[in-house]
Amino acid sequence: MPAKRHTVFRSASGALYHEELFGTEGFAGMSSLVYHLYPPTRVKERSQPYSVRPQIAIEDNLQARSYLTFDAPPVADYINSRKTLFVNNDMSIAVAAPSASMNDYFFKNADADEMIFVHMGSGTLRTMYGNITFAYGDYLIIPRGTVYRFQFDTGHNKLLIVESNGPIETPARYRNNYGQYLEHSPFCERDFRMPEQMETHDEQGDFLINIKKRGLIYPYVYETHPFDVVGWDGCSYPYAFSIFNFEPITGRIHMPPPIHQTFQGRNFVICSFVPRLYDYHPDAIPAPYHHSNVDSDELLYYVDGDFMSRNNIKKGQITLHPGGLPHGPHPGAIERSIGKKETKEFAVMIDPFNPVKITADAMSMEVKDYYQSWLLAGKKEEPVI
Ligand SMILES: [Fe+2]
Repeated sequence: MPAKRHTVFRSASGALYHEELFGTEGFAGMSSLVYHLYPPTRVKERSQPYSVRPQIAIEDNLQARSYLTFDAPPVADYINSRKTLFVNNDMSIAVAAPSASMNDYFFKNADADEMIFVHMGSGTLRTMYGNITFAYGDYLIIPRGTVYRFQFDTGHNKLLIVESNGPIETPARYRNNYGQYLEHSPFCERDFRMPEQMETHDEQGDFLINIKKRGLIYPYVYETHPFDVVGWDGCSYPYAFSIFNFEPITGRIHMPPPIHQTFQGRNFVICSFVPRLYDYHPDAIPAPYHHSNVDSDELLYYVDGDFMSRNNIKKGQITLHPGGLPHGPHPGAIERSIGKKETKEFAVMIDPFNPVKITADAMSMEVKDYYQSWLLAGKKEEPVI
């Protein structure tokens, strides 16, 4: 790295390195300065784009619904494996079961920051900043525009993906004016994993980057390897955070859902539900009260835990409780929760503040008549958060 930014920086052979400012919000947001062996602009070919826009099945929804996302079949190709289920103007939610690594192309999402929650599988996320090894329970946050490639350890992978048209950040209330995490935050700097083991690829040839923009995939062939970086610094880069490092906030009586918040985007939040002690007031009711989330849809993705011992919730199942209707525990759940000491559940909740549209892919995974499930007193046993 040169002592000063935007100054002469040469290799041992005398060639200039090529500096790139990488940011996602003009010149005002987080950015990094990256030094390449070659200019990041050498396009050899571009092919016709093709559409991966989801087909919308339901534009307007006021019905509680549920989906079995593990029904999504494994697909070898990473881009084709991504099945978008819900979408609005701020974000979209997809699941993916990629069964092969990305060996013959790179991917760049030009529209959206990505949050990729790893429900099954492990491997390495490769980027120009370096590599991030990942495993079950990791959230991977990838700023939009970042070129990346997934290398999976096996063919058995299940991913939950949020695409955000604005930056994905940690909640502002957990950071001080300087950006440091405060003492009451459920995580701190040590819990985040940056890219490591940066690899400098001095290679020329044909390097295919499939670029996603406005629901189209544009195949671009570059002359040089996109990971040709010799050094970088700054504040824009992909990172990982494990749900197992989320420290739950508990109380004597029921704490509201914001204590689970992990990330914020433009008009949505992402929350982590993790094993924790239940409320410890002697008369506390650990089950949540009924609530009317009038100004927010609420999507809960079940990961693991004691809900597995119950009859009607499976791993990878999503419930959608639309804004405008009250929802709450299933029959019997409130009484059952009294006196319980702890929960072992893992779940990821996504609350979009604008209603989501439901895609045809989601409909193919839908659990029928979920909206009537509160009628069946004593017959069903499901957790509701
Ligand atoms: Fe809720």
